[in-house]
Amino acid sequence: MRECGDGIVLIGFMGSGKSAVGEQLAERLSLPCIETDELVQKKLDLEIPEIFEQFGEDRFRDAENAVLETLSPNPAVVLITGGGTVLRRENVKLLHRLGMIVHLFANEAVLFERVSRQNNRPLLRTTNPRATLRGLYAAREPLYREAADLELDTSYHSINEIAELIVQKHGGLRLEIR
Ligand code: S3P
Repeated sequence: MRECGDGIVLIGFMGSGKSAVGEQLAERLSLPCIETDELVQKKLDLEIPEIFEQFGEDRFRDAENAVLETLSPNPAVVLITGGGTVLRRENVKLLHRLGMIVHLFANEAVLFERVSRQNNRPLLRTTNPRATLRGLYAAREPLYREAADLELDTSYHSINEIAELIVQKHGGLRLEIR
């Protein structure tokens, strides 16, 4: 029997819909909603782009790992991770303790359209953000896939539909685990 909390952890690339779906899920299940990015921002008292600018990606990843270490499976939460959280293997272990890991994904065109609405992703501030997105996604996809208990394509489904599917699966998984 696998040790697993009753929470839900959303992983996936930037623009995959983690935040929107996570908020909806937390509301439906009456669970607190936590975002690792928000915890990191609070910890360092800076916005994500400033953290990357002033300290670099490694320091951001250290802070991300440190905040994950503080999370416990009880009480259960909906956890929204950053797109690069799975890059560290120890993070994936910590995520599994919290509950069911759901990988949200979307096709490249949809991801690019979504991330282009905002300019708050330091890793995509390059001369060719689409090519950067493609490269990062290719490198990370196996990590998301390996970590996931459930994978859902958010390209053409509403936030409500995705949340509903996760709620159903979550109920079933809890029965299986007990
Ligand atoms: C990152 C994704 C961002 C944020 C940071 C790094 C990444 O979160 O953690 O900019 O490495 O993919 P979102 O996935 O919520 O955009």
